Amino acid sequence: MGPSVLAGTVTTTGAHTSVGIRAADRADLLDVFHIEKQSFAQPWPYAAFERLLDAPAFLVAEADEEVVGYVVADTVPNHGTSIGHIKDIAVAPDRRGEGVGRSLLSKALMELFVDGAGRVKLEVRESNEPAQQLYADFDFEVHHIVSNYYDDGEDAYVMVREA
Ligand SMILES: CC(C)(COP(=O)(O)OP(=O)(O)OC[C@H]1O[C@@H](n2cnc3c(N)ncnc32)[C@H](O)[C@@H]1OP(=O)(O)O)[C@@H](O)C(=O)NCCC(=O)NCCS
Repeated sequence: MGPSVLAGTVTTTGAHTSVGIRAADRADLLDVFHIEKQSFAQPWPYAAFERLLDAPAFLVAEADEEVVGYVVADTVPNHGTSIGHIKDIAVAPDRRGEGVGRSLLSKALMELFVDGAGRVKLEVRESNEPAQQLYADFDFEVHHIVSNYYDDGEDAYVMVREA
């Protein structure tokens, strides 16, 4: 991994207390896993977060020394260019709607582009309008639909944004 543009904590002020975005470390994983379980019907296992600790953009949002959200993103080589992949993003239910998700996504995209990503993709449930709206705000467009992508049979929109 190259030098991080997130060597320090970037602080933004939301509707409530100020929120800092920084690289995740091992001590954050229980908090991250807790938010994951509150956010998804089929949460990732704890070990998946452990494996991705060194990903180019595994970032947490912190407010009052508490983790209130996270994003996990990496890059995959693809015929000479890299594709960035937003693999997971969630904000604690009681901290949604304050701009935390926007800050996390913005910093993650910055990290992916620094890491060489020429485009960035993600999957989102067909029914997940808040997330789709967030991604559309960042110029992601629906590229194609994957039927039955999720274990419960729901389709995924694959959304893509060029660098
Ligand atoms: C998606 C999620 C990460 C957004 O985080 P957030 O901190 O609440 O989002 P923000 O406050 O930064 O909002 C940013 C933008 O997202 C969109 N958005 C957020 N919540 C929304 C809602 N309930 N309805 C519609 N759009 C919404 C809006 O475009 C918003 O911009 P605006 O405030 O100018 O209207 C959060 O809702 C979440 O954790 N959801 C559960 C996990 C999940 O679904 N993750 C995505 C998996 S693909």
